[in-house]
Amino acid sequence: MKFKKITDLALKNKTVFIRTDMNVPIEKGCIGDDTRIRASLKTIEYALKNGANVIVATHLGRPVEGSNDNTVSPIAKLLGELLHQNITVVAGVPDKIDFGTSNIVMLENVRLNIGEKQNDSILGKKYANLCDIFVHDAFATAHRSEASTDAIGYEANEVCAGMLMSSELDALNMAAANPKSPVVAIVAGSKVSTKLSILENLADKVDYLIVGGGILNTFLLAKGFNIGKSLVETELTNKANDIMQKMAARGASVALPQDVITAKHFSRDEVAIPKNINNVSNDDMILDIGTQFANQLADIINKAGTIIWNGPVGVFEFDQFANGTKILANAIANSNAFSLAGGGDTIAAINKFHLIDKISYVSTAGGALLEYLEGKKLPAIKLLEDRA
Ligand code: 3PG
Repeated sequence: MKFKKITDLALKNKTVFIRTDMNVPIEKGCIGDDTRIRASLKTIEYALKNGANVIVATHLGRPVEGSNDNTVSPIAKLLGELLHQNITVVAGVPDKIDFGTSNIVMLENVRLNIGEKQNDSILGKKYANLCDIFVHDAFATAHRSEASTDAIGYEANEVCAGMLMSSELDALNMAAANPKSPVVAIVAGSKVSTKLSILENLADKVDYLIVGGGILNTFLLAKGFNIGKSLVETELTNKANDIMQKMAARGASVALPQDVITAKHFSRDEVAIPKNINNVSNDDMILDIGTQFANQLADIINKAGTIIWNGPVGVFEFDQFANGTKILANAIANSNAFSLAGGGDTIAAINKFHLIDKISYVSTAGGALLEYLEGKKLPAIKLLEDRA
């Protein structure tokens, strides 16, 4: 992967268009998790410090183009506080940016601009005309081709990766392209269908595949275990078997539990009942992996050279079903392996157990990370390489 980085370019008196991903949860004007805003700061600060005029852009949610939904004003306000200056929000795409006495402005939600989602080249050219350099720093949107992430890049004078984009790509490269073995991948979540390609792709590469949540239930059913009324995708048991066979054929394995934590209903107040996997009854739901199995997985993690983690292995939001995820998260945090974690639920679990500083790299991305691990060429990487 060869591409230009912002640190390779002279920025003094240049106008840079920094496409960030500050797509954060906002409720009634209040920002929830601001991780993506803080993660985007480094590039903006670098550009300002090196004498550039900065146009910051992001999408926010999935509004109807041409409407006035989902304003970025709360983001501009927080960004202004973090940078100790006021940041004006510019509506639409003007012909020219008037910076006034400031050296930074923020564009209104780019997904309000007609043509944004369709990657319209005329809109891309309008964005490109505003700047000397297009800085792609929106790794979490790297799997999308939109006018402010893609078309702009083929119209701008110069294109480079921002600092967040570079560090995300470096981390992914270490974990997926050049991993130190043994490689352990934890892929968990409610549905095999949403993670089938990543499971299939990793099954060719990793030494241990740990599955959890509804995904594990589908694997257990495929092996003939009774999983009671647990969440499952019966139609995907064949795929689960293919993955297990593929792994076994090359001496690798998908770990399956001897003990699980069950409940009669899915509820915050439900009693957690540990059971041997052979004793699950028809009215049980499996909501976490058992302690014995979690400790075995911790041993595997302890010996890993590289760990890739996407998805909690149980209903960690309810404390009585959080133990499996907690044991795994602590094992990852204490391991000497290079560990890469990503995805909204995974980050929430890491935060719940206060382990954020102990994971080698926590990605800001969800969908983009999965698509990268599936082996797909991300449009952002293609653009950066095309414009290197
Ligand atoms: C994300 O939250 O995964 C990114 O910001 C991309 O958002 P999108 O799925 O709406 O394109």
